[in-house]
Amino acid sequence: MSPPPAPAPAPAPAPAPGDLLKREDLSVTALYTAQTWAWAGFEGARVFETDQSRGVFGATNLFLGLAGLLRGAPSLPKGLAQRHALIDALARRAGHAQVLELAAGLSARGLRWAPEARYTEVDLPHVVAHKRALLAAAGRAPREGHSLIGADLRLEGAAAGALDLGALLTPAPATLIAEGLLMYLTPDEQRALWRRAASALRPRGGVLLFDLVPPCEQPPPGWVGRGLGWLMRRFTGGRAFTVDARGREALREELRAAGFEVVRALDTSAVARAEGLPWAGARTQQVVWAAEVAGAAEGA
Ligand SMILES: C[S@@+](CC[C@H](N)C(=O)[O-])C[C@H]1O[C@@H](n2cnc3c(N)ncnc32)[C@H](O)[C@@H]1O
Repeated sequence: MSPPPAPAPAPAPAPAPGDLLKREDLSVTALYTAQTWAWAGFEGARVFETDQSRGVFGATNLFLGLAGLLRGAPSLPKGLAQRHALIDALARRAGHAQVLELAAGLSARGLRWAPEARYTEVDLPHVVAHKRALLAAAGRAPREGHSLIGADLRLEGAAAGALDLGALLTPAPATLIAEGLLMYLTPDEQRALWRRAASALRPRGGVLLFDLVPPCEQPPPGWVGRGLGWLMRRFTGGRAFTVDARGREALREELRAAGFEVVRALDTSAVARAEGLPWAGARTQQVVWAAEVAGAAEGA
């Protein structure tokens, strides 16, 4: 007689929406940026401050600061604060009546945007659930015209759960923002996202704002950098920063090939004073890109 089949192993309990730390994906990075925005004093950011975000921020900075060796290296939180403020400034200057923020995480940009603008945010479903819970706890339910959508932005085309970015927009010109995302995508995933963003903007015109320091411009990691990479991979289930050899010109060419007509790359440290960014004069290393599509109507 054959022995009875072994019982199937019980599925691991799904983490609660609040457990971004236990997800083993990139959502843990949203805790660091959320706390950076609160630390830097961005309006609305305190809504998303939690013990977890404070813990991740403190531990990461301790790790970076531990290395007296890193003295003189660019400041991560100050650079991120400059990047966040520069993207705000460029988006406001674009003046579009709709903003689509991709990988919005726990950014409070949607809360501080003009109430007459349409504001749509996308992030992984459990991050959106976490954000909704924090908003509800603070009595800040999203206003009319402000929507939060849970989706995996790496899915595209006919894949189940893939978002059609154009379908999230009205026919008016639009600003798309993807902050703190591109460095975690592979070059193929980056190009796929650029193509989708450009084709969503093609009929209406608009701009994609995102950040990406060309990996070849980054100093090779010392032991601290490698340690930070190891720490990130532990928390994110193996994902860390994408490293490849493309420089600014190669990235510009890829953005043009994706369908953008005008492409600018701005170093936060170079424009900090002119743009009134926080900690102007601090040593930072962040590059913000503005890639524009004129739109079918304007180009006709
Ligand atoms: C460094 S955080 C930045 C969050 C936000 N943009 C900010 O600046 O505060 C990266 C964000 O990308 C989101 N993310 C990563 N991969 C994603 C994917 N495939 N689809 C949707 N969101 C993703 C993470 O959940 C996280 O919220």
